[in-house]
Amino acid sequence: MSNTIVIGAQWGDEGKGKIVDLLTEKTDIVVRPQGGNNAGHTVISDGVEYILHLIPSGILWPGKQCVIGNGVVMDPIALLGEIDGLAEKGIHVTPENMMISSRAHLVMPFHREMDAYREACKGDGKIGTTKRGIGPTYGDKIDRIGFRLHDLVGDPVNFTERLYSRISDCNTLFESVGMEKLDAEAIGRDLLAAAERLAPYCADTVGFLHAAMKEGKSLLFEGAQGTYLDIDQGTYPYVTSSNTTSGGACTGSGVPPQKIDRVVGVTKAYTTRVGEGPFPTQNDTLADRFHKMGREFGATTGRKRRCGWLDLVLVRYAAMVNGFDDLAITILDGLDDCEEIPVCTHYELDGEKLLLPPASAKDFERVVPVYENLPGWQSDTTAIEHYDDLPANAQAYLARIEKETDTRVSMVGVGPSRDQTIIR
Ligand code: GDP
Ligand code: IMO
Ligand code: MG
Repeated sequence: MSNTIVIGAQWGDEGKGKIVDLLTEKTDIVVRPQGGNNAGHTVISDGVEYILHLIPSGILWPGKQCVIGNGVVMDPIALLGEIDGLAEKGIHVTPENMMISSRAHLVMPFHREMDAYREACKGDGKIGTTKRGIGPTYGDKIDRIGFRLHDLVGDPVNFTERLYSRISDCNTLFESVGMEKLDAEAIGRDLLAAAERLAPYCADTVGFLHAAMKEGKSLLFEGAQGTYLDIDQGTYPYVTSSNTTSGGACTGSGVPPQKIDRVVGVTKAYTTRVGEGPFPTQNDTLADRFHKMGREFGATTGRKRRCGWLDLVLVRYAAMVNGFDDLAITILDGLDDCEEIPVCTHYELDGEKLLLPPASAKDFERVVPVYENLPGWQSDTTAIEHYDDLPANAQAYLARIEKETDTRVSMVGVGPSRDQTIIR
């Protein structure tokens, strides 16, 4: 038995889906502990591309059990859409291979409306959310007025009563700001219909995971988003609303820290970000190059991702707060053409050297990234299978990451397919 957490070391989209898919082979149960359908995890399996939003990537492997944990915020209608979309591709999600924590909070239509409205009010100061209602749902959870899955499937009468009352409050607010009112009856009908389909998936996942561990089964935690979108450690307020760092995998699943054997950090060989907020190493020339190649578009919203050079300040701090045991470096092949590769080793702020990121987003906007130019390898790495066969300059690049982050590189991605990953 060995339990592993996979965590993004940057602003999300590091390639966690692919790494989780790879590690699933030697795992019994794959758990999504936090986030919602703001996530988009791409997995290419047998040449077919899948984008998973709420369902753990482990679902693509036959015989594996998937769990949506208590820390997830789940949009019932979106989840059913995802289940149906997978069925069309021949992947059958059933109560036998997936369960959802009865404690998971529900994303409601009014959460999505609030998300969009709040963003519109912020104008230029917007966060650039995915508009999936994530922030307002976690807000209600912390405010202790949320709806959980057990409310919907266990007590529909009380659920409907509370729902109507909440929508009535929302409508008063929406009307006062000129927004359209919501139809409580239609929403209630849709949710109760969804409840019928979701009821067989609703389970005490904490009890299930602990029983599984007693039987010697191994767990793989599929983190969503990344360290700099973490509500505490990220570039606040330009973050998501959950703990995306490794601790979030424990609170979001009910599995305690001493049961965790390994934390794998995933980082691209460069950096990307979708949405607003500081990004010291952003480089528009690099972004143009990737976009022209049809790469680096958001898997959930289709937005162009902002791109930049590798920022070791970010990965260094991510290794600390997550306790990375090892690193998976993805899309090394993305740098195959570069003659020289700048890497940011530290920042300067008002004449001071910073090895760790500042707390304030305003300071984060002002830091000056200090680069070291490393020589590129200018050769195609996409067919390389063994670490030792990587070009010497590529190995030197990876060694530099190891030195600056004090963390060993254990996997290297050289292409989007499952088999384009070098295991060291
Ligand atoms: P996630 O949210 O962390 O799972 O990452 P996304 O799926 O949103 O974005 C990662 C993108 O990079 C996807 O399009 C993947 O197919 C792709 N990808 C992952 N690893 C590699 C790699 O090593 N090389 C290349 N070229 N693409 C990769
Ligand atoms: P995966 O799991 C990249 C970003 C949004 C926005 C901020 C807040 O695929 O890595 P939210 O809708 O969560 O309130 O938006 O967080 N964001 C992501 N960026 N990958 C993700 O997930 C993201 N999930 C949220 O773009 O900047
Ligand atoms: Mg993604």
